[in-house]
Amino acid sequence: MGVNLSGRSFLRLLDFSTEEIEYLLALSKNFKDLKRTGTPHRYLEGKNIVLLFQKTSTRTRCSFEVGGMDLGMGVTYLDPGSSQMGKKESIEDTARVLGRMYDGIEFRGFEQADVEELAEKSGVPVWNGLTDLWHPTQMLADILTVQENFNYDIKGKTLVFMGDAKNNVARSLMVVCAKLGMNFVACGPKSCWPADDVVDACKPIAEENGCTITLTDDPVAGVTGAHVVYTDVWVSMGEPDEVWAERIEQLSPYRVTEELMSHTAKDSIFLHCLPSVHDTNTTVGSDIAERFGVTEMEVEDAVFESKKSKVFDEAENRMHTIKAVMYATLK
Ligand code: CP
Ligand code: NVA
Repeated sequence: MGVNLSGRSFLRLLDFSTEEIEYLLALSKNFKDLKRTGTPHRYLEGKNIVLLFQKTSTRTRCSFEVGGMDLGMGVTYLDPGSSQMGKKESIEDTARVLGRMYDGIEFRGFEQADVEELAEKSGVPVWNGLTDLWHPTQMLADILTVQENFNYDIKGKTLVFMGDAKNNVARSLMVVCAKLGMNFVACGPKSCWPADDVVDACKPIAEENGCTITLTDDPVAGVTGAHVVYTDVWVSMGEPDEVWAERIEQLSPYRVTEELMSHTAKDSIFLHCLPSVHDTNTTVGSDIAERFGVTEMEVEDAVFESKKSKVFDEAENRMHTIKAVMYATLK
C-alpha cells in the first residue's frame, strides 16, 4: 500500500514508520529538484498556515515561510511575544481558534505536551519545529544531506553524536538512525547520555533494521570509523546560563577537533544543526570567551570550515524537507 500522510501531524519520528520517513525524504529530493530548476510548485494554493514560535529561530522559521510561499500558501508568523498564547489564552483555546482559520500550524516551544495538545485540539496538521524533547523536521534535512554524500546508500553507515547527547537533536537522531538502518553512537560523559526511555524505545527498532545503538564516554572510540560526525550546542534554548561552566568542563573532551576527525572514515562528513559556537563572532561566543577563556565550543573552527563540513547544505535542506512535510500532510 502506498504511503498517505494526509491530515497527519508531525510531532516526533517515533510515530512514523521507516517507509513513511523514506517517502518524505524522496519527496524532499523532488522538491529540491523543482526549486533548483525553477519549476513552480504552488500545489497548495488557497491554503494558509501559521507559525507559532516561543523560542527564537532562523532556519526553521525561514524554511516554513519560504516553503509555504513556494507552495502557494498564505503564511502568518507569530513571534514569542506577539500572541495571547500562554499569557491570556491556554494552548487548548489557541488551538481551537487557529484550527478554524488555518490549514496547518507549526509550533516551536518548550513542552512536547504543548505541541501534542495543539495537534489534538486544533483539528489540523501540526508540525513540531522543536521542543525540549524532539526536533523531527531537522532529522529529515540531516538524513537528506547524508544521502546526498553517500550516494543514497545510508544503511549500515555510522553516525556519531558528540557532546550533549541527551538533548532534543541527539534524541531525534537516535530515532531516525534506528528507523533507517544507520548505526548511532552517542558520545559524551555519562551525565549527558540520552534518557533510558528513548534508548529503550530505539534499541528494538535498530535491531529490526539491522543497525546498532552505542553509548560511550570515550571520544576516540566514539568517532573511530564514523561516516557522519554530528554535534550541537552545549547549552540548548531554555536552559539557564549558569550551566555553561559545568558543560564546558564536562564536554570539552568531546569538542569535534581535527584530531578526532582524523580517526573517522576517509569519506566522513561533519554535520551540525546550527547555530554553532565555533568562533567568537557572536554575542554568546565572545561572552563565553571572556568568561571562560574558550574561543571554540562544540566544534573547532577549522573543522566547521573544512571540506568535510556540509552544514550549509544541511541548512538549505531544511527548506526542501519542511516543504515535503507540509505538502504530504496538507495535500
Ligand atoms: N537548526 C535549527 O533549528 O535552526 P534555527 O534555530 O535557526 O531554526
Ligand atoms: N539543541 C538546540 C538545537 C537548536 C536548533 C536547542 O534546542 O537549542
